[in-house]
Parts: sequence; structure tokens; C-alpha cells
Amino acid sequence: MPDFPVTDITATPEWSALAEHHRAVEGKHLRELFADDPGRAEALTASGADLVLDYSKHRITRDTLPLLAALARAAGLPERTAAMFAGERINTSEDRAVLHTALRLPREASLTVDGQDVVADVHEVLDRMGAFTDDVRSGKWTGHTGERISTVVNIGIGGSDLGPVMAYEALRAYADRSLQLRFVSNIDPTDIAEATRDLDPATTLFVVSSKTFTTIETLTNAKAARRWLVEGLGSEDAVAKHFVAVSTNAEKVGGFGIDEANMFGFWDWVGGRYSLDSAIGLSLMVAIGKERFAEFLAGMHAMDEHFRAAPLEENLPAIAGLLGVWYVNFFGTETHAVLPYSQYLHRLPAYLQQLTMESNGKSVRGDGTPVVTATGEIYWGEPGTNGQHAFYQLIHQGTRLIPADFIGFAEPNHALPVEDGDGADMHDLFMANLFAQSSALAFGKTAEEIAAEGTPADVVPHKVMPGNRPSSTILAAELTPSVLGQLIAFYEHVTFVQGTIWGIDSFDQWGVELGKVLARELGPSLTGGPVDGLDASTTALVRRYREWRGR
Ligand code: F6P
Repeated sequence: MPDFPVTDITATPEWSALAEHHRAVEGKHLRELFADDPGRAEALTASGADLVLDYSKHRITRDTLPLLAALARAAGLPERTAAMFAGERINTSEDRAVLHTALRLPREASLTVDGQDVVADVHEVLDRMGAFTDDVRSGKWTGHTGERISTVVNIGIGGSDLGPVMAYEALRAYADRSLQLRFVSNIDPTDIAEATRDLDPATTLFVVSSKTFTTIETLTNAKAARRWLVEGLGSEDAVAKHFVAVSTNAEKVGGFGIDEANMFGFWDWVGGRYSLDSAIGLSLMVAIGKERFAEFLAGMHAMDEHFRAAPLEENLPAIAGLLGVWYVNFFGTETHAVLPYSQYLHRLPAYLQQLTMESNGKSVRGDGTPVVTATGEIYWGEPGTNGQHAFYQLIHQGTRLIPADFIGFAEPNHALPVEDGDGADMHDLFMANLFAQSSALAFGKTAEEIAAEGTPADVVPHKVMPGNRPSSTILAAELTPSVLGQLIAFYEHVTFVQGTIWGIDSFDQWGVELGKVLARELGPSLTGGPVDGLDASTTALVRRYREWRGR
């Protein structure tokens, strides 16, 4: 395993300076911070590529970010960033390079890793994906019976599902509506059964997406899909025209019966949760076309360049990542809400859960020693305005501090008027909610203000809005493929910044392995095998399950 040098970040003067600064700031209300610094909104707003980040509604002063940037330098963020982009093996526990940024390098760029021209490899696969996409969309690619494909079903899980489904939902406005996309991930048989029940095998194409091609959920679903197809079309030969694979494992793909000509590859230097921009994005490309997919990649690249080049104090992912550290390590927060004001982004929180929590949910540092700080933020959320009518109550008036990201767009993807809107359209009303919520969270409403409205004295305490609840507002002109790419790359780098401060390897995920092994071992005891060697609780549960299933 390569060396992973770590420093005790809490023992640095930069950490001490932040701890002292925190003592000075924690008691201040955002109302006071805004009153003390009238230029604050402008000063604490940054932009990168097409995104604008207003971070003025955070529990910080103008001194905070320079102190956080100094901490990032003490943790070696600039050096580690350079190492990542250069293809060094910074994923030490798996001894791998971390090069998702190479997946969006333009054709004319160059990057050689271990003597291999990575950019040429990437574009060779992109070209094959593009040709396949054109064939499916134009109807040149036909099924076994000669019919045009009308439904593409992506079978994958984790990074081989969450990215494609999130981005497909996000970019539906750009999708070819004559093609239907479905996503199957869960080993719950309900998923594949419901996804296929009304489909015609003759017009259905399965994309089996799995980096390793060993993931039990994906392979089980893929086999169920193959049975359904072969039964429906009456011939094993149909598989060749109805199954393609996306994987790094050509041997296993061949073993499954998918021809290598129908396989789109990628490389071990692409982590599963960082793989949407690899061939794992094939179903997305089929939906939106290769040109839009290229725009999506260009957006990611634009954010990469911003992250690589902008000074930390003006660098969107660095600012957002360091603010996360500020809250987790100095205010003791645990969760982070993501509140997209875009129905199209309804799967973004789920996608970010894997990206951030599989990356930074670690208790040891890169060298195997225990972490010296809390790590990882618990990401969660729902699109506004739905969340407003569900859980915002707790964010506004509960006892926990929950930093939030509001994400919104100026241009609607659909322009719909409202009857009595005084010139405002539906999108204006929607965005008014975003601005209102972040303002209410920050500034609240005092008991005096509420009493002055004639509220009975005994009701006043219930209506007090404490405020001082921090949030970022991320705005862009419109949700385009490029802007989606920028947003995803933004959060990838936020995750990397935080992992670097905490000294952890954000690119391995050993914590998911034990559950997989136990599930395999447990399997036979559910169907009649001996129920032994299990803990007492699990034994009782398995016995009850078997009883109910008559086994
Ligand atoms: O859950 C663990 C994990 O390895 C994820 O990191 C990954 O995205 C997912 O499983 C799927 O893996 P694969 O693409 O190899 O099927």
C-alpha cells in the first residue's frame, strides 16, 4: 500500500486559530453579522463557471474563510489536488489513481498515466458510446425481431444507478421523449418485475452497468431480465440485440454472455460513485444524445478547471467544503440538507448521499490510524417546495443546527403562467419560496415582532422563529446539461476537500463489504439450511421468516 502521509490537523496552529475564532463568532446572530457588515452579501458571494454561490448566510465573518483556507493549506489541499489531477495513486488502500476528472478532459488534452494515454482511451470509448447512441435513437439498432428499441432499462446499483437515474431525471427536458428509460437497482424482485411488466421484449434494451460485474444485485437482476427476454422472444440468440454491458471487467461480461463488441469499458481509476461521466452514463447519453452528453462533460470540466485554478478563497468547492468542516468540527453539526428548487433534481439528494457518505464516512485516516475529528456529513433532502410542507419545521424551529444548500435556477424549463400572479409566472412563485426560506432561516422573527402583530402572549413563544440557521444559495441561469455537470463536479470536489482536511481516503468503501459477505453466508439458512452460527437476534428473525414462508 502506498504511503498516505497524515498530519494531526487538530494540533496545527491553523486549527487553534479557528477554534478561537469560533468562540468569538458562535454567539453572534446572523442579524447582527449582517447589520455589522453592510457589504457582506456581495463580499461573501463567489462564482465559478456558470454557478453563483452566496455563502453570506453562514455563521461566519469576513475573517473566517481566510482562516479555513489556511487550514486547507496546512492539510496539504493544493498538493493533494495536484496529485489527484496528475493521476497519482491517492486512493492508497486500493492502490489506485483517482482520475474521474480525466473522463471529461477535451479530446485535445493530454494526460499520460503509467505510460498510457488516458485521454485517447476515454475518447475512444466516448466515440463508441456516441455511435451506439445514434444507432439506438435513429432506429438503426433494432431488436431481435427487427423492431426499433423504445425502452432502455439500466440495471445497476450504487454508482452504477444513482448517477444515471439522477441525471436522466434532471435532464428530462432534453431527452428524446420517444424513448423511455427505466432503472432497476434493487434485488427486491419487485423492482425488475414492475420495470418490465408492461414492456414488450421485442423493443426493450437492457444496459447492464457494473464496474466489477460481480455485484449480486445487478447480476441477479440481469439474469432475471435475460430470462424474461428469452422467454418473451423464444430464443437465446435475442440476447445479443437486447443486452449491452458497461464494466471494467471484460471477462465477467463475456461469462454472462454479452459479446465484447457490445461492452463499453472504463478503468479502475474511476470510483463507482464518480462514474456517471464514464460509460456508466450510457443510458443518459442515449436519452439526451451524444451532443448534450458532451455539453454535460464540458460543464464538469469547467468546474474542474475552476477548482484547480481558483484561489481557495474564491473557489466554490473549497468554500463549500470548508464551510462543512466549520460546522461539523466547530459547531458539532451532523447533517446537511440539500434543497433543490427544481423538481428535475428530485434524485440529487440520493445521489449526493452516496457521493459524500460512501466517500467520507470513515473512522480511520489514510495511514490506518484513527481519525482525530468527526468526519462525514449526513446528506439528506428533498426538492423545495415539497420539503417545506414536510420537514422544514425542524430546520426552522427544532433544536438542531442543520446547514442547508438551496439550489435554484433563473430560467424555468417550462414557462407556465398563473391566473392571479400580478405578472409573476409559476416559476417566479417557486423561486420566491427559495428566497423566502433561506431568509427566514437566517433572520427568523423575534418575539417582539410577533407580539406587535397582535399575537396572544401565550402563543408568541410558539411562533418565534429563532433564525441564525445557516445556508448556501447556489444559483445558475438555467438547468442545462452543462450546469448539471458543473453541479456534480462541484459536489465531487466539496467531498474531496473535506476528505483532505480529515486526512481520509475518500475513494475506498470497505465498510460496505461485511454486509455483502454476511448476506451471501446467510442465504442458505433462509431456504432450509442449518440456522447456526448466527447471533441470537438474527437466529430468531430467520426462524420466524422461515415459519412464515413454510420452510
Ligand atoms: O456499495 C458498494 C459499491 O461498490 C459502490 O461503491 C458501487 O457504486 C456499487 O457497489 C456498485 O458496484 P458495481 O458498479 O461494481 O456493480
